[in-house]
Amino acid sequence: MAHLNDNFFKLKAGYLFPEIGRRVKAFCEANPTAAPRVIRCGIGDVTEALPPAVITALHQAVDEMAARATFKGYGPEQGYDWLRQTIAEHDFRRRGIDIADDEIFVSDGSKCDCGNILDILGAKNKLGISDPVYPVYVDTNVMAGHTGEANEAGRYGKITYLPCTAANGFMPAPPAKPLDVVYLCSPNNPTGAAATRAQLEAWVQYALAHKTLLLFDAAYEAYITDPALPHSIYEIPGARDCAIEFRSFSKNGGFTGLRCAFTVVPQLLLAQTKSDEFKPLHPLWLRRSTTKFNGVSYIVQRAAAALYSPEGQAQVRSLVAHYLGNAQVLREGAKRAGLKAFGGVNAPYIWVRTPKGVTSWQAFDKILQEANVVITPGSGFGSKGEGFFRISAFNSRANAEEVARRLPELKW
Ligand code: MLT
Repeated sequence: MAHLNDNFFKLKAGYLFPEIGRRVKAFCEANPTAAPRVIRCGIGDVTEALPPAVITALHQAVDEMAARATFKGYGPEQGYDWLRQTIAEHDFRRRGIDIADDEIFVSDGSKCDCGNILDILGAKNKLGISDPVYPVYVDTNVMAGHTGEANEAGRYGKITYLPCTAANGFMPAPPAKPLDVVYLCSPNNPTGAAATRAQLEAWVQYALAHKTLLLFDAAYEAYITDPALPHSIYEIPGARDCAIEFRSFSKNGGFTGLRCAFTVVPQLLLAQTKSDEFKPLHPLWLRRSTTKFNGVSYIVQRAAAALYSPEGQAQVRSLVAHYLGNAQVLREGAKRAGLKAFGGVNAPYIWVRTPKGVTSWQAFDKILQEANVVITPGSGFGSKGEGFFRISAFNSRANAEEVARRLPELKW
């Protein structure tokens, strides 16, 4: 008899976005006349076409695959050298950040990497995770057996939850007690808050003092509009010795369907063995990648490289400006509806407080049924998300404007 991974039974709910998808499908089936009016601002999935520079690169790469002389089979598991070099140069070295080409690991998504990284981390780490948070950080630790059971409130043992509230600007300060692994996400999904340099400095100092590993998710860095805000944890001195960074082409280049991302693992980043020795994580991540992954397809890596060409960069800027324009429209719409709205300035998410006495899921149901708009209930991101909902700015401008028109019509 095969034994299964019992840790899966600790999970308190299905993954948030399929759950929302099920509810929206049920609503549309029960209300066929309302179904065509439904506007989806739930999952943060891009809606606009890929940049023309990417399309050209895809066509060229397909043509290369069509000729024996230029055909490519297996590539390097950690990414082609030309893409790793381009990323390290453009995203880091040109900004004065010391990252070597071989510290870049190209992958098929930050979500995957956030989960896969647990392969090289032990099960005994004391974890620090924000609340609310991108559910992947919590759920992957539960699946890997790195947490205890959930309590009544859905909080898992062995995780220290770091509350993100309006009072702390939705960015937690380091706790007094030492933690082994801490997840940080800036600009933040779901709250739309972005960490200041001082906030990240405090985390890096904490991490160096306690030998904490920071897992820094910067998937939304392209949305930073304030020039004072750091785009990378490695802008903070000392971060090379305490942080892994996750980056993605999903939200800047529109690659949610194409799939390409990268993870930065500095060569000298150390973690502790059972016998209290300190060893580098880089060779373990390389070993993991070469064993469990055959790399992102050549065609897609060529498409990712095209994002760094001068035309590609201009097209990325215009895509990001489009979604940020939507964020402004949606934020204003929420305010006209009398709701308190946060975020949406350095991030594509608007974090909205529900009216007094209305839970996140009640708000979800009302907004779906009466405005025919899909949002994400804040409680789906953690207990401190209760009393909030998230609006995604990934949409057409016409849809964003329509949502901003419908929200103020709701009578709470
Ligand atoms: C979200 O809506 O939170 C995003 O789509 C998550 C993701 O990028 O996986």
